[in-house]
Amino acid sequence: MLSRPRRNRKSAAIRGLVAETSLRTSQLIYPMFLAEGKAQRIEIKSMPGQYRLSADELLREIESCVELGVMSYCLFPVVSEVHKDKYATSSKDPNGLYPTTIRTIKEAFPDVCIMTDVAMDPYSTDGHDGLVEGGKILNDETLPILAAMAVAQAQAGADIIGPSDMMDGRVWHIREELDKAGYADVSIMSYTAKYASAFYGPFREALDSAPKFGDKKTYQMNPANIQEALREADLDAREGADILMVKPALAYLDVIKALSDTQTLPISCYNVSGEYAMIKAAAAQGWIDGPRTMAETLLAMRRAGASTILTYFAKEFAQQFPSGI
Ligand code: PBG
Repeated sequence: MLSRPRRNRKSAAIRGLVAETSLRTSQLIYPMFLAEGKAQRIEIKSMPGQYRLSADELLREIESCVELGVMSYCLFPVVSEVHKDKYATSSKDPNGLYPTTIRTIKEAFPDVCIMTDVAMDPYSTDGHDGLVEGGKILNDETLPILAAMAVAQAQAGADIIGPSDMMDGRVWHIREELDKAGYADVSIMSYTAKYASAFYGPFREALDSAPKFGDKKTYQMNPANIQEALREADLDAREGADILMVKPALAYLDVIKALSDTQTLPISCYNVSGEYAMIKAAAAQGWIDGPRTMAETLLAMRRAGASTILTYFAKEFAQQFPSGI
């Protein structure tokens, strides 16, 4: 036998030498939920270990994560019904909870990277990512609302704007408005291939942001499609995105791979709430080894071609694998 692949697996040292893929905490972005009020730390039932945090608690949490080497965060606001309306008006208020908290975080931790979420759903009484009129989600009328939201976030010190709404032309529109407002240095990580997925269930519970009627299938992508993801990627690249994201991640590794094979921009993926919940639930039953399953899952996303992963496991990964895998 001339070829014995097992020789390259005979010790941890040799396995380390020939490992094709690796993952470090610096490649992870930690999504967190920002709530109103003070001293609020409410665990999300379907996402054990994840919380709705008021700004003071969020700052404390970031401090403990920074000590572990987690340097990038994506914030999602939990907005109470009184601050919601049809036009998501509160989303562009520079003194709103979200921009104010970004400002506070950047003052306390100037080295951390803050990514935002741009979509109407957390602020909208309709619970849709775009403006609703007569039961339809309007595209072009939504664009200025998204851009105003992005500008307020940039003004607050956001490093990366993350449009998650899936309206056509929004990357271009946001890029133009950011530049006009003097924020040419602020990046855009586009949710390029965002699928209409059942894996977002726990997130919508966390934010109380489920659509009030219908579903999101006229703007989020059909899970059956991959050619369409390539088309979205071409558009976002041309419209000025800096990083292209695939979401969800685990059931869409082929899409991550296709984008990383065909695009020159860095590819990111979002290991979403439902993917987190599945591992946590099975591990709690003792049916799988939680930390090992987490590591294997995240590594698979890297192997598929993601340079960056948004994951609720960010802190736990940093704790379990301080020098990476
Ligand atoms: C909506 C948004 C969603 C997520 C991030 N931004 C949910 C949705 O599209 O309904 C899901 C994230 C997750 O499930 O972890 N703008």
